[in-house]
Amino acid sequence: MNEPADRRIRQDDIEDFGAQLESWRLRMEGALAARLPEAHVVPGRLHEAMRYSVLGGGKRIRPALVFATARAVGLCEDEVLAVACAIELVHVYSLVHDDLPAMDNDDLRRGRPTCHRAYDEATALLVGDALQPLAFELLACDPQLSASAAVRLRLIDMLAQAIGTLGMAGGQAIDLAVQGLRLEIGQVEDMHARKTGAVIRASVLMAAECSPALDPNLYNGLSRFANAVGLAFQIQDDLLDVTGDASTLGKATGADSEREKPTYPAVIGISASQQRVRLLHNQAIQALAPFGQRAETLRSLAHWLLSRQY
Ligand code: IPE
Ligand code: IPE
Ligand code: MG
Ligand code: MG
Ligand code: MG
Repeated sequence: MNEPADRRIRQDDIEDFGAQLESWRLRMEGALAARLPEAHVVPGRLHEAMRYSVLGGGKRIRPALVFATARAVGLCEDEVLAVACAIELVHVYSLVHDDLPAMDNDDLRRGRPTCHRAYDEATALLVGDALQPLAFELLACDPQLSASAAVRLRLIDMLAQAIGTLGMAGGQAIDLAVQGLRLEIGQVEDMHARKTGAVIRASVLMAAECSPALDPNLYNGLSRFANAVGLAFQIQDDLLDVTGDASTLGKATGADSEREKPTYPAVIGISASQQRVRLLHNQAIQALAPFGQRAETLRSLAHWLLSRQY
């Protein structure tokens, strides 16, 4: 009976949250621009391609998760800005390589030609090669990160785990290996948890790690939140490939079925996938209960993600 009222509140939340996301997006644009090599410095073409790929687009959801988690654990945005930059850099590296002809062979990303289309394949490989170490350099040395040496080491380890074979790179390998195959939904879930979930999880837990005295109960709540949001994010990405609009998304639709990818909707259908996203959303919100009001921004971000169209 209360559902329509809940929905109205949620809609207001979502609209307000758009302004918050936009302000974080602008903040990230400046922070990333300042940390990327200048295009006039040799090798200029590589530096230009790095800036082309990182700047001027993207939802910056992973940085938003870093900032919202920081708020929940009592840190300010400045304290985690370098962490947000590091995670966005590895995310962009993963997109640039994901789009290559040897992987998904896509021409459009963030509403513009993909890196290998705007430059060339060798440059796109090198953009990924260079963005990855830059991310770790920020975690090791960024002067704006006030973390101790021990915390920096832990952050480096967390990001390394998230993008290695147990995380993004492993998930991408599975994604390529299973094209054209029939999978059980549990296998799709494992692939999604690795290729996308791991970096989303790292976005939340690396921000939490910057508050080393955090109560283990709260850390566990964040861990459960991050797992749910990470899986839901890739299920929605799969759904948007079927139901979304290419000009809104800034990337091609229908590409997954063209490549016979065993996505969530391909394996269990659109409506069961949508239901799974709603269930994961509820789990994510429940996991934040121990935070009370302090997790309000994280909740708003989860609501925004639930209704995203791009
Ligand atoms: C796309 O990520 C790739 C996935 C891991 C699903 P996003 O949807 O966050 O892409 P951008 O950063 O907004 O372009
Ligand atoms: C990509 O998944 C996951 C990454 C690690 C980059 P997708 O291949 O579905 O992402 P899009 O749809 O191209 O953005
Ligand atoms: Mg892919
Ligand atoms: Mg792709
Ligand atoms: Mg996709």
